[in-house]
Amino acid sequence: MIAPSILSADFARLGEEANAVAGADWLHVDVMDAHFVPNLTLGLPVVQALRKATDIPLDCHLMIDDPDRWAIGYAEAGAYNVTVHVEAARDPIKIAKDLRAAGAKAGLSVKPGTPLEPYLDVLKHYDTLLVMSVEPGFGGQSFMSEVLDKVRTARRLVDTGHLTLVVEIDGGINDDTIEQAADAGVDCFVAGSAVYGAKDPAEAVRKLRAKAAR
Ligand code: DX5
Ligand code: ZN
Repeated sequence: MIAPSILSADFARLGEEANAVAGADWLHVDVMDAHFVPNLTLGLPVVQALRKATDIPLDCHLMIDDPDRWAIGYAEAGAYNVTVHVEAARDPIKIAKDLRAAGAKAGLSVKPGTPLEPYLDVLKHYDTLLVMSVEPGFGGQSFMSEVLDKVRTARRLVDTGHLTLVVEIDGGINDDTIEQAADAGVDCFVAGSAVYGAKDPAEAVRKLRAKAAR
């Protein structure tokens, strides 16, 4: 699956930009609060508006403090998947239950320096694992291939039936890096600058998909 990140889109034309990637599987929406990460982007009102503007399932990536309080609003707004950061969550199992009860898939994200091992039981409650391959906060950074060890671990746990989740990667994915991520076992690839920095975003999605499938 390919999930273009609208962080690299033209925010003045978000509806059009969403529909410029019509073949995409998910539309990745980066919510940042200037506390959990240094950057500030968008929040619930924009997600509510986007939900009406496109049929592409919304993949909300919450880079915010106190997701225990705020995540459910994104599920109630109709997001398909809502991902919180394990580093910010107080009770990640409760968050997953709340998200699922509100009708969304529940996602858990780990920053590049955060190990998976302490969270293997928590991940049993989740539908998505988002492995960050850059420090969260900004688009256009370079891919950190060292996180692929976590992808391989997650892939193995899914393939052996210990976890049931989509393995997603976020940060620095482009034509040059997507193949190594695919080889490591990623199911869903977030791409911001590689899609919205291209002249034809829909064509960029098709190219990424073809490379990942090789
Ligand atoms: C970074 C965001 C990413 C970002 C990726 O904190 O979570 O989703 O949009 O951008 P690229 O693909 O340009 O690295
Ligand atoms: Zn993201």
